[in-house]
Amino acid sequence: MAVRSALIHVMTAAALKAARGLIRDFGEVEQLQVSVKGPGDFVSTADLKAERLLKSELQRARPGWGFLMEESGASPGSDQRHRWIVDPLDGTTNFLHGLPHFAISIALEHDGEIVAGVVYEPVRDEMFWAEKGAGAFVNDRRLRVSARRHLGEALVGTGIPFRGRGNHRVYLATLAAMMEATSGIRRLGVASLDLAYVAAGRLDGFWEFGLQPWDIAAGIVLVREAGGYATDLAGQHGIGSGDVLAANDHLHAPLLQLLQQALRVTATTTGKSDRSGA
Ligand code: IPD
Ligand code: CA
Ligand code: CA
Repeated sequence: MAVRSALIHVMTAAALKAARGLIRDFGEVEQLQVSVKGPGDFVSTADLKAERLLKSELQRARPGWGFLMEESGASPGSDQRHRWIVDPLDGTTNFLHGLPHFAISIALEHDGEIVAGVVYEPVRDEMFWAEKGAGAFVNDRRLRVSARRHLGEALVGTGIPFRGRGNHRVYLATLAAMMEATSGIRRLGVASLDLAYVAAGRLDGFWEFGLQPWDIAAGIVLVREAGGYATDLAGQHGIGSGDVLAANDHLHAPLLQLLQQALRVTATTTGKSDRSGA
């Protein structure tokens, strides 16, 4: 049974409310697509509006808790033990191009540990939510990572660095290794949802470098509560490095080994394994 706690109610209600505005704005973006000016500025405003709304809703429900938000950064609260980590619009590039795949991501950190996460995908009306120790769900259905055991059958999501972001050569080495070993790679453009999809067993794994806490905090709880593993590239827990590998319980270890091996090989041939440098 999917029994939502008071905390999850607060998070899902805030996400639903912000999503109404995003959906309206997405309709507008589809129109602006063909205009000369394009939807650029309009999208930044949509993003900011959603962030302001999420902040005021969460603040109203839990006064004094702190925030780490993509647009407005960190604002400590009077309660130093709780902090919301929020991406008001994950998948901005999709949104900007009228691609109907984007999400709102809200996580709660308690004493430095992420204890709850909500990722809402408004177009399909899919509310992914998880709370530490209580399981992971989409709407009212329990989530479980996929049962696939063989790399050769795995479908793996990723985030491809683009102009001005990440070390392309190092990333390409990891991509080549994954292409060799798996049955397919997907770049869907929304890191929080990629993680939710691993939790839902739609993807068997996901890796990306150089992400921000608001891209991954909520998704990581979803993966863990669905029985999967989410770590950085050293196999460590925590969201600090921004590098993430998530997978089902059978495939996390072999995927980690494959990525580490690819990084070692590029480091020996180029003298570099820094994933963040351009
Ligand atoms: C981006 C998305 C994308 C990932 C990028 C992120 P944004 O977030 O999650 O999938 O590849 O690294 O920056 O900018 O759309 O919120
Ligand atoms: Ca993001
Ligand atoms: Ca964003």
